[in-house]
Amino acid sequence: MNGEDARATCMLAVERLTVAYGRTVAVQGIDLRVEVGQVVCLIGANGAGKTTLMRALSGLLRPEAGHIRLEGADITGQPPHRIAALGMRHVPEGRQIFAGLTVAENLALGAWLEDESAEIARRLEQVLALFPRLRERLAQMAGSMSGGEQQMLALGRALMGAPRLLLLDEPSMGLAPLFVEEIFGIIEELKREGRTILLVEQNASAALEVADYAYVLETGRIVLQGPAVQVAQDPAVLAAYLGG
Ligand SMILES: Nc1ncnc2c1ncn2[C@@H]1O[C@H](COP(=O)(O)OP(=O)(O)O)[C@@H](O)[C@H]1O
Ligand SMILES: [Mg+2]
Repeated sequence: MNGEDARATCMLAVERLTVAYGRTVAVQGIDLRVEVGQVVCLIGANGAGKTTLMRALSGLLRPEAGHIRLEGADITGQPPHRIAALGMRHVPEGRQIFAGLTVAENLALGAWLEDESAEIARRLEQVLALFPRLRERLAQMAGSMSGGEQQMLALGRALMGAPRLLLLDEPSMGLAPLFVEEIFGIIEELKREGRTILLVEQNASAALEVADYAYVLETGRIVLQGPAVQVAQDPAVLAAYLGG
């Protein structure tokens, strides 16, 4: 494959990325790729460095070393608004919706880079078709909804930005089992639409089921990677993450 083709199919390329908090190195020289149209999952125990990596990708943390390329453009060290303008949207751990604003206001904020009101209306229809519950609650204060509904709102807000790459950090964390199922159903649907997603999850079995490709992160390093079906059968993964 020549360089131009590689750029056309590679959404995200992370090279030798290191991220630290002072002297605590949380991500140690990671290489990772997400191809266009793929769902890639990153699994790993609490404290492995998953959120740190996601925050570095979207520009919230400045890497110590390494490179991040989005569709071929080097975005290493760029501020979050610049990276967002290139099409990356990050649904953060813990959702981070605006509790004191309505559902409609939260969704509108997701389209802050778009001026065309017809385009914003089109995206809103798409999001509400995906999350009918949000349609019923457009005028409701976001903070008064359940955790699962707030996660849907966080996802919907990111989709309002018409992302080229969606980063999802623990979307099922802390949710009741029925909502966990619903959230993974939504991720399946986004995959069918051909969206490109980097998914971080502690729910390894559900993540490996939806993903095309998987990485396993342990104390800041990638210790295993491969097609998700293969990673799901790896004896070490079965023992450590799948209760096997
Ligand atoms: N703001 C911070 N300051 C210092 N250390 C942090 C901070 N956030 C996370 N860490 C440390 O970085 C490591 C990775 O954390 P994190 O990326 O949140 O892991 P994960 O998302 O996989 O649970 C952990 O050792 C954690 O204690
Ligand atoms: Mg985390």
